[in-house]
Order: sequence, then C-alpha cells, then structure tokens
Amino acid sequence: MTQITLINGDGIGPEISQAVVKIIDAAGLKIDWDIQSAGADVIEKEGTPLPERVLDSVRNNKVALKAPVTTPIGKGFRSVNVQLRKALNLYANIRPCKNIPNVKTKFDNVDIIVVRENTEDLYAGIEKQIDSDTAESIKLITRNASERICRFAFEYALKNNRKEVCVVTKANIMKLSDGLFLESFRNVSKEYPNIIKREILVDNLCMQLVQNPSQFDVLVLPNLYGDIVSDLCAGLIGGLGVAQGANIGDEYAVFEPVHGSAPDIKGLNKANPTALLLSAIEMLKYIGEDDFAYKIEKALYKTFASGLYTCDLGGNLSTTEFTNAIINNI
Ligand code: NAI
Repeated sequence: MTQITLINGDGIGPEISQAVVKIIDAAGLKIDWDIQSAGADVIEKEGTPLPERVLDSVRNNKVALKAPVTTPIGKGFRSVNVQLRKALNLYANIRPCKNIPNVKTKFDNVDIIVVRENTEDLYAGIEKQIDSDTAESIKLITRNASERICRFAFEYALKNNRKEVCVVTKANIMKLSDGLFLESFRNVSKEYPNIIKREILVDNLCMQLVQNPSQFDVLVLPNLYGDIVSDLCAGLIGGLGVAQGANIGDEYAVFEPVHGSAPDIKGLNKANPTALLLSAIEMLKYIGEDDFAYKIEKALYKTFASGLYTCDLGGNLSTTEFTNAIINNI
C-alpha cells in the first residue's frame, strides 16, 4: 500500500482533510496515510511548531498532502508553511487557476498557471528591529533560485503545451533584486525559442487580471508577488475554496490548497473541501494513480453539475453533505 504523509493542519484543516481521505477511500484507492500534526498545537509538547518527525515523514514518503496551518499574525513563531518549503527545498509553488465547470464566475476562459518562487524574496525571514520605531526586512533574490524557477516555468510550459511564459516583477523600482529576477528570466528564456516570452510589472498585471484574465497563460513570479497574485487568481475562478496548489522540489512534493486555515469558519462544518481535493487529485496524478484521479474529478464535477455547492459558492451544503454528495457520485 502506498504511504503518503498527511499534514492535517489546524483551523478548517482537520475537517477538509477528513473529507478528502473519505472521498479517496470511497473511490477504492487504499492509501496508508502517515498523519503528522504541526503548528501551534504541537509547540507545548514538542517545543517547535514543525518537529523533525514531520520533515522525516515527507523525506521517507517523498509525497505529502497538506492542509493549512495557522501562522500568528504580527508576532509569534515563523510560518510552518514557509519553513517546510525551505527545509525540503520545495522551490516551485504551482497554482493552476482554471474555470471549473458549473462554478459560476465573472469570467470564462480563465486558464492561468501561477509559478511562484518558494524559497526566498521577502519570505526569507531576514528581518530586524532597528529601533522601536523602525523595522527592516531584506528582500533576498539570488541568480541561482531565480534561474531555477524560470527554467521550471518554461519546462512546465513545454510539457503542458503552453504557449507563453510571462515574468512578473517590479524591476522599474527594485532594479537590483527584481532586476536580477528579470535578468535570470531573460537568460533562461533563450533556451526555449518556441515559447513566447512576456514581461509585465506586477501592478499592471493585477489590473489586467481583473479586466481580461484570459490573455494570460503561465506566470512566473518571485515569492511575495506570487503569493498575492495567486489569491487574486483564485478569486477569478470561484474563490479560495476551489484553488489548488502544489510545492515541488527535485526530491519531494507537497500538495496543498492556496487558502489558509480560515479561523472564521473553523468547526462550523462550512468549509469547502474542493481546493484540498483538487490538490489531492493532482497528487494522485503525480504518483501515477491517474485512473483514481479522474474518477474522483468526475464525481466532483458531477456534484457541481447537479447544482450542489457549499456556502462559499452560494450553496447551502455543509462540508459533510458536500463530501457525501461527491461520494454518492463516485
Ligand atoms: P484564509 O485563506 O484562511 O481565509 C480567507 C477567507 O477565505 C476567509 O473568509 C475564509 O473563511 C475563506 N476560506 C478559505 N478557505 C476556505 C474554504 N476551503 N472554504 C470556504 N471558505 C474558505 O486566509 P487568512 O484568514 O488570511 O489566514 C488565516 C490563517 O491561515 C493565517 O494564520 C495564515 O497565516 C494561514 N495561512 C496558511 C496557509 C497555508 O497553510 N498554506 C496559506 C495562507 C494562510
């Protein structure tokens, strides 16, 4: 039986993890889930929000499914998500944003792949308090990581028959850091003569995305812009409840939705499990279980086609009811 690490997270994490495990099980795929908790709840017992056992489990299994983990805002421990990506060198964060059949949105024909650099930029965590009224964060950009993510984006485009890769920066202002990212893109792009290259500033991109998103294909961005733009793109296809993602490195892959732990709806049986389910479907394709992946995807689409939705999509089903509806459609 395949063993896969399951980081079931906190907030709505355990509810949506349970739903997805149930759906995969109902599809007939037996997975030995190696359940690993992380985050605030384990600090008291283990002294850290990201114990070594979690990393070891992913190192052993090579693949993980991860639900969101809360990060205290403005204080407290460093994000478990950022630490995990760094520790396992999961340098590419892929966030596909494509219209889902029967999920109503403002635009049709959205099909964007957000490729976000996952290890550096302002998320490197190099911050210092200069005095009580001044704080400083360092935006770290290296040629190595920038070329690596740009190459990943071009390779993704090649393998998936995509026509264009567009680099997103603010290199007019941050001439050295974003300038280096842009220069890396230009260097790597020479290896891909058959793919169209485009360059855009992040502020213009945001405006264009909300007016005419179908003009974009593959976007490659430094970490912070990638994080913000992928939530914007999630909004184009129905919101965070349906936005999937994956963190990929050369050795390991961790599949997780774009959204966070949604503390506002924690424990209310209201969370939409679709984003985690779509992430799990991609994970199944990644491990070669394509038949099960398509079987589950079909059941999910059939559920939407029957007009069944959770509250975030304008429906009235609870997490449990929506999960059972998908299971009935398998
Ligand atoms: P959030 O993504 O948790 O929630 C934003 C809004 O979207 C909320 O109104 C929430 O109810 C709604 N939402 C999110 N997922 C949903 C779902 N599956 N179904 C229905 N509604 C959903 O973002 P927020 O509130 O900014 O962050 C909460 C916590 O999550 C923070 O501690 C943050 O650090 C953490 N976070 C963790 C991530 C991860 O583990 N990868 C990613 C993003 C945030």
